[in-house]
Amino acid sequence: MQLSSTVAADANHHHGQNHEKHHGHNQLKSHTGSIKKPKKSRWGTDYFPNITLITQDGKKVKFFDDLIKDKVVAINFIFTSCDDSCPLETARLRQVQKILGDRVGRDVFMYSISIDPKVDTPSVLTEYMKKFKVGPGWTFLTGNEEEIITLRRKLGLYIEEIQNDKENPDDHNLSLVIGNQKTGRWMKRSPFENPYVLASQLGDWLHNWERKPDMHKNYANAPKVRQISPGEALFRTRCSSCHSYGKDGVGPDLLNVTKKRDRAWLTRWLQEPDKMLAEKDPLALRLFERYKIPMPNMRLTPKDVEDMLSYMEGEDARLENATTAKAEDL
Ligand code: HEC
Repeated sequence: MQLSSTVAADANHHHGQNHEKHHGHNQLKSHTGSIKKPKKSRWGTDYFPNITLITQDGKKVKFFDDLIKDKVVAINFIFTSCDDSCPLETARLRQVQKILGDRVGRDVFMYSISIDPKVDTPSVLTEYMKKFKVGPGWTFLTGNEEEIITLRRKLGLYIEEIQNDKENPDDHNLSLVIGNQKTGRWMKRSPFENPYVLASQLGDWLHNWERKPDMHKNYANAPKVRQISPGEALFRTRCSSCHSYGKDGVGPDLLNVTKKRDRAWLTRWLQEPDKMLAEKDPLALRLFERYKIPMPNMRLTPKDVEDMLSYMEGEDARLENATTAKAEDL
């Protein structure tokens, strides 16, 4: 999304109790097309519920005072037993965290709040974080179910009012919110967006470019735009948050997978890994046992699968001379 279609919170906005009452009234919506100078945010504790949440380490924190006050933040809502979109989101945000490096926990804070707090106890959250190799500066939180629902609603309504999302007017699905509490700039984002774009929004844009632009270094490292095959494009957008070549990530190293596995197995796996797991395919079960996260069904078309396989075969051929012996191969 371009900056021009993003709106800063308008300090003349009504706030506090009136807010919800007016929700849905157009006159309260900001206009697109201008970037307003950030003003001091009027939305403080009177808007954001200052509920108590519990971190993965069992520490009690206040949502407003401890988590968002004066901070640049990314907040999403998850539940650890979700096996479709949440692992994708978490893996994608993990990439954003990697790009931002040690700025996470210093000037950008990431929060994943469970919407299934009865199941997602601190120890369940800790396990989940391990599976996704979540680094420091990204906190997972649980708490009171009712209060979390209120928080989610408030944040959702809030973002809808300040961000007039023309592209997705019906998208009320709040998955990721990024913002700067101090300046009052908030946006609803898709966690599936290019992680470099998200990292730059969090790292530069929300900081008003006040900081040293150390992100640009990372931009330089971003893959160069060149002619890429459909399979490679798919790999980058749909698979690379969990897989790479030459090392394990959230999912297994894909190096030589086209040599190790039977083509029919691979074809079906790419199409419906969830079904294969449900049918207790022995290899699928062994892989799941090791990686603990079910590979999501990505709804690939038969053509996507063909493209994917030829990309993967190409990579295996290209990397043939790389050291491939891995003692723990299944
Ligand atoms: C959310 C993370 C995630 C995403 C996204 C993902 N995978 Fe996976 N993948 C896994 C996990 C985890 C496993 C191990 C099996 C399991 O636990 O279900 C796996 C297993 C595999 C395997 C089997 C590896 C082997 O050793 O046989 C292949 C092949 C594979 N994935 C390819 C892909 C491709 C291609 C894409 C993109 C279209 C993709 N995956 C997207 C997580 C993911």
